[in-house]
Amino acid sequence: MALTALVLAAGEGTRMKSKHCKVVHEVLGKPLVWWSVRSAREAGADRVIVVVGNGADEVRAIFADDPSVEFVEQKERLGTGHAVRVVRDAIGAFQGPTVVLYGDTPLVRAETIRALVDHSKAGHYACTVLTMDPPDPTGYGRIVRDESGEIAAIVEHKDCTPEQLLITESNSGIYCFCGGRLTENVDKITNDNVQGEYYITDMLGIYKEMGEPVSAIKAPEYSELLGVNSRSQLAVATAVMQERINQRLMAEGVTMLSPSQVWVGPDVQVGRDTVLMPQTYLWGSTTIGEDCVIGPNTRLTNCRVGNGASVEETVGYDTTIDDECTVGPRAYLRPGTHLMPGAHVGTHVEIKNSTIGAGSKVPHLSYIGDTTMGSGVNIGAGSITCNYDGVFKHRTTIGNDVFVGSDTMMVAPVELGDGALVGASSCITSDVPAGAIALERSEQVVLKGAATKRMASLRDQKAAQLLKAQQAKQA
Ligand code: UD1
Ligand code: CA
Repeated sequence: MALTALVLAAGEGTRMKSKHCKVVHEVLGKPLVWWSVRSAREAGADRVIVVVGNGADEVRAIFADDPSVEFVEQKERLGTGHAVRVVRDAIGAFQGPTVVLYGDTPLVRAETIRALVDHSKAGHYACTVLTMDPPDPTGYGRIVRDESGEIAAIVEHKDCTPEQLLITESNSGIYCFCGGRLTENVDKITNDNVQGEYYITDMLGIYKEMGEPVSAIKAPEYSELLGVNSRSQLAVATAVMQERINQRLMAEGVTMLSPSQVWVGPDVQVGRDTVLMPQTYLWGSTTIGEDCVIGPNTRLTNCRVGNGASVEETVGYDTTIDDECTVGPRAYLRPGTHLMPGAHVGTHVEIKNSTIGAGSKVPHLSYIGDTTMGSGVNIGAGSITCNYDGVFKHRTTIGNDVFVGSDTMMVAPVELGDGALVGASSCITSDVPAGAIALERSEQVVLKGAATKRMASLRDQKAAQLLKAQQAKQA
């Protein structure tokens, strides 16, 4: 069934006190308007038109990967009714149902939109509005009903009489128009109100007066329809979405010690019997397998983690962590990192654009960049690949079963063959063949008894100084 969705996202969002437009502010790593578009799509909208104005480029950029989202620019922001006027050409003569959503209402569920569309189609309503009962209706448009209990009009908070302000039933900002009625009479909207704006909400009263069928249905849950106008409402929306996603994950078999301290984005997948520890953030396209322990204090963005891995106090971007790997505490995995099965990356280790082979270990205080490392390798504490000469990046290649002693500098480009061994504190500037030992350090000098003699002499000097100081004081 054809369904068109119109998402109004041109407003400035003055109440956010931001240099960015409102709808790009994020809930769990995704912009507000992204959530509205996603709900519309999930509800079956085959056409999604986003009205942009303030920060149009920022909003378009959000959907750079989705060419099916259409944009119409509202150059002057004269109100939500005016926004409908500017899409008239884009919508054309489309007669099917059209839902209108606001780009600042991220929590609405697809099922709720579907129910609205089904209801409005069944009754052939020109206009149906989804209403709600917020605990505090301040700022929302009020639903005015007539003696028979039918909706008569929507009156904006600022235009309400004192009696109307007592009404709690409010406008969610989600509507469905059937039979081309969204744009047909939009020119009848005037800006004769306190804010001097063209309100889409007037459409309802206009159709009512024309004797066309209109209706209102109340959503069961207010928390879905929270409009984000301020930073404080952004925080509330985040908490609602966090709770919703975490409840779903727990229902699917994920353990959380403290769900309020775990933040998971909408596209993230987590396998069952995985434990998410407090202060864990999983963003972007991250997927976590089964039987993993992630966190505490871990942030993974666009990472792929296999089964049975443990990732503790780690920050990772665009990284693949295979089965049974152990990472952290305090590792930093940068884009292009691939840890193969059973690899271990320990504490204060940074890895970038490198493959760490199966079962290989980089346990302490290392930087590994632009490196291909085989399996069964052991990198000693404090060892570093020097991959950058100030202009170019160079690769390091380490074979299988290589042992690199602590505090080794590997100056790239350089290659260590299979089974090679590098003595601690070496600066490796040329290739080490398979099976060879490489050692680069100056010869050690041992002077017998010299330390004892030196310390005794220093102590004598200090005693003499103290004596002199005492004598000076007494004099
Ligand atoms: C609106 C409704 C109000 C409802 C509330 C629900 C109107 C007149 N009022 O009020 O009844 O209770 O939402 O959250 O519609 N926008 C444009 N172009 C414009 C003006 C706004 O695209 O010229 C967009 C904004 O980006 C925003 C949405 O429309 O996403 C709503 O605008 P906003 O100013 O937030 O309306 P509210 O005062 O919250
Ligand atoms: Ca709003």
